[in-house]
Amino acid sequence: MTANLQLDRLPRTVELARGADGSATLAYVDQRLLPAELRIARTRDWRAVVGAIKALAVRGAPAIGVAGAAAVALWAQQAAAGATGAGTGPGAYRSALEAAAEEVAGARPTAVNLRWAVERVRDGAVAALDGGAAPGEVAEALYDQVKRMEAEDEAANRAIGAHGAALLRPSSCVLTHCNAGSLATAFFGTALGVVYAAAAEGKIERVYADETRPVGQGARLTAWELGRAGVPCTLVCDNMAASLMAKGAVDAVVVGADRIAANGDVANKIGTYGVAVLARHHGIPFYVAAPSSTIDASVADGAGIPIEERDPAEVLPQPLEGVQVWNPAFDVTPAALVTRIVTERGAFEPGGLVY
Ligand code: MRU
Repeated sequence: MTANLQLDRLPRTVELARGADGSATLAYVDQRLLPAELRIARTRDWRAVVGAIKALAVRGAPAIGVAGAAAVALWAQQAAAGATGAGTGPGAYRSALEAAAEEVAGARPTAVNLRWAVERVRDGAVAALDGGAAPGEVAEALYDQVKRMEAEDEAANRAIGAHGAALLRPSSCVLTHCNAGSLATAFFGTALGVVYAAAAEGKIERVYADETRPVGQGARLTAWELGRAGVPCTLVCDNMAASLMAKGAVDAVVVGADRIAANGDVANKIGTYGVAVLARHHGIPFYVAAPSSTIDASVADGAGIPIEERDPAEVLPQPLEGVQVWNPAFDVTPAALVTRIVTERGAFEPGGLVY
């Protein structure tokens, strides 16, 4: 049982703050360096944030949403200082805003939270402009909006945690894939938010973390995060999950999501689909934990979800003559394999999502 839950040992993943001179800076955990080093990177440059999202320094659907929103706020700050090259007239400012927002939203294609968050702040900027705000006032308004989004994200995760914990039995051993933890959100996490809420109720015996090839979000991030938070964790290679389930060691699977289609199909880290097939075979419930901002009602089913393909070097660091690499970052788990989708609004059958 988790006698020693220490969530205060977890860093805030992405946080916009004002420096002594009053200007906004985004602080984020550089997740490429974990578990060896916990380093907080800081930038005032919106394009550096885009680079951090592309390079997986900031990753996880809700975290890249908040970071993307912050990137637009930093753009507004740089534009107000005349540092973006955007013209000063209202028309030029608006088209530069649209172009910057599009660049941020396009940094990664699968997690819909990124576009959702960027469009919210872009719309906030447009509303401020329509209200007669000057560029400096737009930057102020966007700063406040991003701070609200950080708080909303944590509140949604805590609600997801409470709804999800209610689904778990006492002494549960939970298997998770990738990192849908505090590191993947502003704070607290989605799948691991369920774990933390359940652990606080004394319901968690152990978490099995899939290592999550090829980038190792489970091995590097989930294992680090759970160890730091004081949750008993056993790291397994991805290909060990079947044996673990066969010997009865897993009571429930809880994973996050990058985009959920209207019919309840779920895109998440590559390998999630395989875990769902295994869970069904072994009669183990398969829960998906995600905020409503991960639901994309404009996409009817999983076939419409764009799947990011990443650099082959993530799979094969040294190219081999005559060998090609396929490196999709996500896969789609059909709704039929999902027991419940847990959002901040409750726990739903995939076909009956409320959003
Ligand atoms: O490529 P990543 O590390 O950004 O992929 C992250 C995932 O697939 C997570 O499971 C998902 O974003 C949910 S995070 C709460």
